[in-house]
Amino acid sequence: MYALSTINPFLAARRFRQGKAAPTPQPELRPQRYHEPEQPIYAKLPRAPKNASPVPHLTSLYHNAEAGPYGDRGYPGNCSGNLIKDLLLYFKPEGIVFDPMSGSGTCADVCRELCIPCMSWDIHSGLDACGKDFPAKEMFPFIWAHPPYWRMKLYADDPRDLSRAPTLECFLQRYGQFFRNCASALNPGGKLAVLMGDYCDKEEGFIPLCYHSKRLAFAAGLKQHCTDIIRWSHGASSSRKVYRSVFIPGLHDVLAIFEKPN
Ligand SMILES: C[S@@+](CC[C@H](N)C(=O)[O-])C[C@H]1O[C@@H](n2cnc3c(N)ncnc32)[C@H](O)[C@@H]1O
Repeated sequence: MYALSTINPFLAARRFRQGKAAPTPQPELRPQRYHEPEQPIYAKLPRAPKNASPVPHLTSLYHNAEAGPYGDRGYPGNCSGNLIKDLLLYFKPEGIVFDPMSGSGTCADVCRELCIPCMSWDIHSGLDACGKDFPAKEMFPFIWAHPPYWRMKLYADDPRDLSRAPTLECFLQRYGQFFRNCASALNPGGKLAVLMGDYCDKEEGFIPLCYHSKRLAFAAGLKQHCTDIIRWSHGASSSRKVYRSVFIPGLHDVLAIFEKPN
């Protein structure tokens, strides 16, 4: 049994003032220190319903800790090729897959393995996914996109790089243009898979970038195709850091899959 003051010291003090209970000594209200083990912690996943999916392990909780032999793990913001592979095996796009922000070429490597034609762009090769030169209308059945989480990581020196947007407003304006470009370049019924994470900026505070992705995608005329896929952030560089500040660590990104209506 716990003393009332242990459970709720404020209620205990009020009851004492009302002559209802004698106060018990207050425990030291000092934040507890938890010593986290270095080894992995295993969480029990809910059982997924059986269905006719060609990729049954692809659920709304993407927890594969292996990124696979794709792209360059040393590239800032590199993402799991296995996730892209699972998506392509699920959606089976017929035609060219487009990755307009390709970084180390993870999506192109997966496409090569699956013998799917792929077109890769990046601002590092001078191609601006938020600009007017985006490929022509209705060219792609599937676009994979992993944009910068605004300035969480800086990529190119080019001022057109989304990570170099000087203000949040400027970032969102260019990010909105990116969605309009994708909406125009998708075939009717085509899919746009966008991997994005929320970000806490030193000046702006917490920025719900996943919310903004959806807002801007809908404004561009796209609709959401299926559940969000919560990608557990295995191997994130921040996981190994020690911070002095107090916060609730975000351990996931969100993959949203949009569709261009027919
Ligand atoms: C999160 S990284 C992508 C990493 C990639 N998924 C991988 O596995 O290596 C974001 C990429 O977007 C590129 N980028 C930023 N702004 C861009 C723009 N306006 N047009 C095209 N690419 C851009 C950056 O150069 C960077 O390579």
